[in-house]
Amino acid sequence: MKKKLYIETYGCQMNVHDTEKAVSVLSNAGYESTDYPLDADLILLNTCMVREKAARKVYTRVSQLKSELRTGLGASRALPLFGVMGCVAQAEAGRIFDRCREVRLVLGPQSIARLPELVAQVEEGFPRAMDVRLSKEADFLELEADRRNGKFVAYITITEGCNKFCSYCVVPFTRGRERSRPAERILAEAQSLAKFGYKEVQLLGQNVNSYGLSGSGAGLLPLQRVRQGGEITFAALLTLLARESGIPRIKYTTSFPRDFTQEIVEAMDAHDNLCEWIHLPPQSGSDRVLRAMRRGYTRSDYLEKISLIKRAAKDISITGDVIIGFPGESEEDFRETLRLVAEVEFDGLYIFKYSPRPHTPAAAYSDSVSDEIKAERFERLQQLQDSIQQKRYSRYLEREVEVLVERTSARSTLDFTGHTRCNKIVNFRKGGCALGDIAKVKVQECRPHSLYGEFVSKVI
Ligand code: SAH
Ligand code: SF4
Ligand code: F3S
Repeated sequence: MKKKLYIETYGCQMNVHDTEKAVSVLSNAGYESTDYPLDADLILLNTCMVREKAARKVYTRVSQLKSELRTGLGASRALPLFGVMGCVAQAEAGRIFDRCREVRLVLGPQSIARLPELVAQVEEGFPRAMDVRLSKEADFLELEADRRNGKFVAYITITEGCNKFCSYCVVPFTRGRERSRPAERILAEAQSLAKFGYKEVQLLGQNVNSYGLSGSGAGLLPLQRVRQGGEITFAALLTLLARESGIPRIKYTTSFPRDFTQEIVEAMDAHDNLCEWIHLPPQSGSDRVLRAMRRGYTRSDYLEKISLIKRAAKDISITGDVIIGFPGESEEDFRETLRLVAEVEFDGLYIFKYSPRPHTPAAAYSDSVSDEIKAERFERLQQLQDSIQQKRYSRYLEREVEVLVERTSARSTLDFTGHTRCNKIVNFRKGGCALGDIAKVKVQECRPHSLYGEFVSKVI
């Protein structure tokens, strides 16, 4: 009988994609997935470190799972093997063993390929196994097209790690230095996904716009050299994928203001399969705070990038992230953020309360904004965004949008749900199309975070 793996995933899309990779390498080693911890021989938590609350979750989940398993399994059966992977594993390393006696396996994001080997070590009787090496040259783990969670939307890693070292952010310490994956590997993966019928790919990286810039010899090379492993810019990568991948919808995340260029917008305008959505987090609207965050751009630099996007021929949706309550953020600084958000008019905004992180310079600054003020600023910004979002969503009323039909709605079995090219959720009554189709839907109603419409026709 096959051994069973139960895995929980926290954090960003990169972790979701890493989970797919972990499941794949373990399936080669004879494991199959289960949705039930009680059935599992191996339990893995794929963890996120970006804010304290996320990081603490690991420890609470291990003890919850442990007590559920003790009750469920009774005294006769041993507990399954517990492992922690992902960003907390990388940053906390051996300290996880000290805090959680049950955990016997710790591995960082660059060590997924070694999972079967490390699991085997523990199964053979080693008390613990750990691999948290970070290397500038680490290879990208290749994932076959048929090893994905979804059947219609697939992630493709294009860069790993980050060199920005924003003063508040732990990611460079959990994911290591930035590396770009060879363009010909990315293209080959996209082409194979297209053959398997995937309709949409999302290119992933902490800062996709700096693709190809971190290695030597960066620059725009002729397309034929790309296939020999040459380095190209992000705009050139988009163009290459748009022309040669055969994928109908291409999205990407996350963009970084300083590395975002006019050429990217031009590429998006030139190719129909590059979708109208850009996630470009400002983090703050105050120059003083941006400097303390070491973001490397000013408010006006950011707004210039926004105007590049707004001048595009396509109607591009812009989403972002903002941190409120960064050390030293005054009421005036916060108002600058409110003004920026009002000026940009984001289609969606994720607001985070600042959380001090180990290894980061900002953790040494005094966390001067109280929880009450953070909560109050959060509310004010959220209210502003809600009203902007309502206005932004209402521009789609009576318009036809293209929706990738991804699943039956969780709210009603009568409805399908999917995303537009601009990454908005749309629900509509079933009929006329099937899962995996791209459908034209006429928008009839705007909800706070989704649209509701009526099926018009099938596109593909
Ligand atoms: N590479 C992306 C973001 C990665 S982390 C970028 O640079 O935009 C995702 C989001 O978490 C960030 O955009 C930021 O808004 C938030 N974040 C990161 N560190 C944080 C911290 N210490 N406290 C609160 N929010 C944080
Ligand atoms: Fe973190 Fe900044 Fe890198 Fe984004 S760009 S991952 S916020 S260090
Ligand atoms: Fe979290 Fe690591 Fe992603 S810290 S946000 S899972 S890169």
